[in-house]
Amino acid sequence: MPDTLPQTRPWQALADHAATARDHAILAMFEADPDRLARLSVDVAGLHFDFAKLRADARAIDLLGALADASDLDGWKRRLLDGEVVNASERRAATHAAERSPAADHAPMRSLVEAVRAGAHGGIRHILHIGIGGSALGPALLLDALGRHGDGPEVAVVANIDGVALAEACARFDPRHTMVVIVSKTFTTIETMTNAQGALAWLRAGGIADPVTRCIAVTAAPAKAAAFGLAADRILPFAESVGGRYSLWSAVGLPFALRSGWPAFQELLDGAAAMDAHFASTRFARNAPALAAALDVWHATLLGAETRAVFAYDERLRLVPAYLQQLEMESNGKRVTRDGVPVGWATAPITWGGTGTDAQHAVFQLLHQGTHLVPVEFLAVVEPGHALGGSFHRQLLTNCFAQGAALLKGRSHAEALALSGGDAALAHAKTFPGNRPSATILLDRLDARTLGALLAFYEHRTFVAAVLLGINPFDQWGVELGKEMAKAMDDGAPTRFDPSTADLLRRAL
Ligand code: F6P
Repeated sequence: MPDTLPQTRPWQALADHAATARDHAILAMFEADPDRLARLSVDVAGLHFDFAKLRADARAIDLLGALADASDLDGWKRRLLDGEVVNASERRAATHAAERSPAADHAPMRSLVEAVRAGAHGGIRHILHIGIGGSALGPALLLDALGRHGDGPEVAVVANIDGVALAEACARFDPRHTMVVIVSKTFTTIETMTNAQGALAWLRAGGIADPVTRCIAVTAAPAKAAAFGLAADRILPFAESVGGRYSLWSAVGLPFALRSGWPAFQELLDGAAAMDAHFASTRFARNAPALAAALDVWHATLLGAETRAVFAYDERLRLVPAYLQQLEMESNGKRVTRDGVPVGWATAPITWGGTGTDAQHAVFQLLHQGTHLVPVEFLAVVEPGHALGGSFHRQLLTNCFAQGAALLKGRSHAEALALSGGDAALAHAKTFPGNRPSATILLDRLDARTLGALLAFYEHRTFVAAVLLGINPFDQWGVELGKEMAKAMDDGAPTRFDPSTADLLRRAL
């Protein structure tokens, strides 16, 4: 891990404190500060955030607040929300929050949604959503979390260039009743363009004489969509300043709105706007995204946690880890400052995770007894997503809360010895060090409003972490080199590659 922190007073104070506080007992922090739970819990927009079981004491929080001030967090917040340039390398604003403000113009999208749902485009029963990365992960999460009981067309999200993905989706659908929504900010992404051509071929083979008339393009490059053959009234543009991984609030959210209706999409925007208002106007110590981000930086950059794990204790939220991986790692997986100077400090940790309780039976062994420091984040919903009654939901939630409690408390060697009939070696294997940090996000219920607030929280948290780390969260140059090499390979020049890669090409192509 790079370990030359910025030579500024706030960072050095944090480093000094981390050196002594690294292994401080979280339970002792509760004892030392009776207000700890209240000070490290925030309630906003139907979401309860509990950061009290993280490994940061009151002084660490104060020092992180000083870092936020020294990093001009308030200035960066204002610049972001006022639409000033915050993406230096691409000389752009980042206007995703404006998409959920009451002033946003979603009229063309709304008309299309209402027309399709009213049957004005023929009997559309299926939507083939074609897109990848930010043009797929957010929409897929919305559909999976909220669209299960939608009364609109069924949606399949096709991202991968592996034809299996498209073939499987097409096999489920009837071309005579399918609308294809091609979502690509750039309208050049090879996976999306290839899948779009595949979908046209499938429509044609299914008897649709002019398949482009069955397509809608959602893009920041409308001229390219027009060149693809789409009429102007079949193109829903969005702003260049809306980044792909921040774009689900724009027309990129179309398939969810088609599935669940315009009121649901508006609720999503309203929930996000509530989180925007909280983020914009709340001081650091009570600001959920700012506190969460600062605590992320504390664990990753100061305490050396190389990963952070997110577990959704709710089937409907099972795609959150995949969505967050792009949001956090594509945004903050950077190695230079926003001025292009190499950083000497760890930036984004690796985000990973899964679904609870499944993950308890797979990866939690490492979290409880492994050798890595892994801050864990639990995500749960008070109201069940089913009507089965019985003990399902109680069991789900008690398991979730028990994991956080167990990570914190651990089991001493003496306790383990008593459980092991005096067998010392067995007792070592049964000892849990405890003092392992976790946070919990608890939703009152899962609906479009609370999901909107949650996703806006994640976006702002990612932004604040970038501000504290001094990096630009809105570019993604690191995805380019591999794309260029794939193109060179496709063009057929195996000798230009290393011997191993050239051999793979020879064997497979
Ligand atoms: O390759 C990375 C990326 O550019 C992501 O940032 C983006 O979300 C994805 O590809 C898809 O891009 P587009 O929406 O332009 O097709």
